[in-house]
Amino acid sequence: MKKIAVLTSGGDAPGMNAAIRSVIRMAGFLHCEIVGIHRGYSGLLEEDFRLLTNRDAGGIVLRGGTMLKTARCPAFFDEDNQKKGARILKNHGIEGLVVIGGDGSVQGAAALSSLGIPTVTIPGTIDNDMHGTDETIGHDTAVNAVVGAVSRIRDTASAHDRAAIIEVMGRFAGNIALDAGIACGAEYILVPEVPFSREKLARSLIGQMKEGRTNSIIICAEGADDGRALGDWLKERTNIDICTTILGFIQRGGRPSARDSILGSLLGAAAVKALLDGQITSLIGMNKGEIRILPYSEAAKEKKIFKKGLYTLAGILGAAQEDEDIAESGL
Ligand code: ADP
Ligand code: F6P
Repeated sequence: MKKIAVLTSGGDAPGMNAAIRSVIRMAGFLHCEIVGIHRGYSGLLEEDFRLLTNRDAGGIVLRGGTMLKTARCPAFFDEDNQKKGARILKNHGIEGLVVIGGDGSVQGAAALSSLGIPTVTIPGTIDNDMHGTDETIGHDTAVNAVVGAVSRIRDTASAHDRAAIIEVMGRFAGNIALDAGIACGAEYILVPEVPFSREKLARSLIGQMKEGRTNSIIICAEGADDGRALGDWLKERTNIDICTTILGFIQRGGRPSARDSILGSLLGAAAVKALLDGQITSLIGMNKGEIRILPYSEAAKEKKIFKKGLYTLAGILGAAQEDEDIAESGL
C-alpha cells in the first residue's frame, strides 16, 4: 500500500491524538502517504480530507480530544452511503483505512471492508465496552478524572454530613463506575450489569447513618440509574441530606494519562503495520499486555466480561463491610 487514511469517529477519548501521531509517524517510516479524514464518517462522505505530514503529528501527543475532529454520522448506517464512502476512498487512491473509535465505529469500518476497502480499527472510547481488547484508549484517563472529582466531592460531603451521588458516563456499561469506584473507595457502586434496588440502597444508607457514617459515596453509572432522580428519591425516602453531581464531559476531555498515551502509541503503530502486512479487516487491541489482531468477525463473537470479582471486592471493601443484608445478596 502506498496511500492510507485515518479517521476518528464516535465520542472522542484522551489518547486518540497519541494514536493519530503514531499512525502518521509509522506510515511515514514505512514510506506510505497518510491522509487525515476530518469528522469521522461525515467527513468521509463530504470528502473533508487533508494530506498529513510528520509535522502534523508534532505537539499533539498529550492533547485531549482529537485533532482530526470526530462525529456521529447517522447517514453512515445507510448502505448507499457506505458504498459512496468506499467509492470516494477509491477515487482518492486510498488503499486502506485506520478507524479510531468505539463499537459503533467498528461497524462502519466493517461495512467498508465488506465493500473492498481494507480497514483496521483501534479501540478508542472512554467506556471500555469493546470486545476483543482488554482496554480501550481513554478509559484510564476518564477513570482518573472521576477519582479526582470524587476526592473533592468527598471533602465537601463530609464537611456537611451529606451522602454524595456521582453519576458517571459509560453508556450501557459500568466499567468507568466500577474502576473509579474501587479506586476511590466508594461505599456503593451502581452499574447496569448488576441489578440493584433503590429501596435496599435507602435502607442501607439509613443503617450506615445510624452507625455513625456521615458521608457515603455512591457512584452511579449513567446506564444504571438517573443520578438526579435517584438523589431526589433517596432524599424523600430517607430524609438524609444528599448532594448529586453529574460529572458529564469533564470525564472525556483533558490530557491523556501516561497509560492512555502509551496505549494509543502502541496501537497506532500496530494498526499501520497490520494494514501494510495485509492483516486487514481487524480490530487492533491489547490482550494481557500484548498487541492482539483479531478479525472483526472473531471480535464480534467475544463478549466483554464484566469484572464481577472486582465488583464483589468493591462491595466488601465498601458498604457491604457493615451491612449484612447487602453483603449476602447485594443491593
Ligand atoms: P462509538 O464508535 O464511540 O461507539 P457510535 O456508536 O455513535 O460511537 O458510532 C459512531 C459512528 O459509527 C456512527 O455515528 C455511525 O456513523 C457509525 N456506525 C455506528 N454503527 C454503525 C453500523 N451498524 N453501520 C455503519 N456505521 C455505523
Ligand atoms: O461513548 C462515550 C460517551 O462519552 C458515553 O459514555 C456517553 O454516554 C456518550 O458518549 C455521550 O455522547 P455524546 O457526546 O453524543 O453526548
